[in-house]
Formats: sequence, structure tokens, C-alpha cells
Amino acid sequence: MLSSDTANPLAGLDEAALPTLVDRLVEQGWFVGERFIDPALCRALHDELRTLADHRALQAAGVGRGEAHRLRRDIRGDAIHWLNRDSQPQRDYLAAMAGLQGQINRALYLGLFEFEAHFAHYPPGSFYRTHLDSFQGRANRVISTVLYLTPDWPADGGGEMAIYAEEDDTRELARVRPEAGTFVCFLSDRVPHAVLPTRYPRASIAGWFRRNASLGGLIDPAR
Ligand code: OGA
Ligand code: MN
Repeated sequence: MLSSDTANPLAGLDEAALPTLVDRLVEQGWFVGERFIDPALCRALHDELRTLADHRALQAAGVGRGEAHRLRRDIRGDAIHWLNRDSQPQRDYLAAMAGLQGQINRALYLGLFEFEAHFAHYPPGSFYRTHLDSFQGRANRVISTVLYLTPDWPADGGGEMAIYAEEDDTRELARVRPEAGTFVCFLSDRVPHAVLPTRYPRASIAGWFRRNASLGGLIDPAR
């Protein structure tokens, strides 16, 4: 299965969607793909996140990186666990993202050189207010990714990711249901987005392709 398929760097993701992914990134700055990641891998990752939650291995997420890191429940309410290659599902997902990184680099010459990601659990009632994932001029987070892990997301579940216009972050362009297998990626410093209040436990992996941004002297600290 996935873990033994080391020959194909794109194992586990929907190869046929890659040309569309690249086109959407170029034309509008974001891409949404349903059933983008293999269902068995999504299930395994979801099981792992639930085990982490059962073992109290999630930490409250904060806002700001490095020394500026603060807990702000009024801005975001998720609990996270950074991927660290501890399990086969994590290694499979990171391998798929490494394959995607290679494809994006070949198509767009973005010079992406690493990927960092965390599991995220949003309990009922939680949300993440409108934000950008990186700031222009310090853009070592270049492309953001989110993979959703909750199967059969209920119609009244809320918890959509809202995508807003670059020039007006109150103008909503799209709403993404956080259904297992759906994958979103977007330009980290251009696309304002939010997690609308969820009514059900919401499971995902948020990740970022990074570039070494030390040239300008302004470096986002890792995490
Ligand atoms: C994030 C984020 C969106 C989502 O973690 O920075 O914006 O849909 N997540 O989970
Ligand atoms: Mn974000």
C-alpha cells in the first residue's frame, strides 16, 4: 500500500489534479481539491489525531511566532501537535507533501525547500479569525496547506474555511467544507482566510512550504 510504494513520490495524492492545482495557484492564489489525499491515509491520520487527543498530547495553539508567541482564545481556539515523523501515516503524508513540493518547484520555480505541519483539533464552538499566514517581506512561509480529516462532515456542522479577497478581507470568495480528503493550498502572504465557528469536533493538518528567507535579513522563526 502507501507505505511500501516508495518508488512514486506522488503516492497518496491525486496526481490528476496537479495541473489544476498549479493553474489555480497562479490565476487566483488558491486551490481546493476534494478527495485529494488517499482515504486510507486520511483515516489513519484521523485515528492518530484522536489518539493524541485521548493522551492529552495536544497543546493550545497560539498566535505569533518565536518570542511573540501568545495564547489568544479570542483569535484561535484549536489545539495542535506538530508532525515529527513518529508514525507511518505521518511519514506517508510528509512524503506526499515532499512530492507536491517538487511538482510546485518544477512548475513555478518557487524554491520551496521544506515543509512543516501540525495536526489541529477545533473543539465545538472554536474558530480562527481572519488572518494571513505570513507577512510580505518575511515570507518564508510561501504556500499554506490544509488537509481535512473528519469524515461525513454534517451539513449543519459549520467550521468551513472562508477565503477572502486579497484587497478586501471582508469580501468572501469561497467557503470550504472541512470534509475528510479535501485539501486546500494558497499563497501564505496573499490570501486572507478564517475558520468559521465549528459545531462539531473538526480535525485537520495545517502545513506550510517554506523558503529560506534569510536574504533580506528578516527571518520568521520556525513555528
Ligand atoms: C491555520 C489555518 C485553516 C483551516 O492553521 O493557519 O488557517 O481550515 N487553518 O484549518
Ligand atoms: Mn491560516
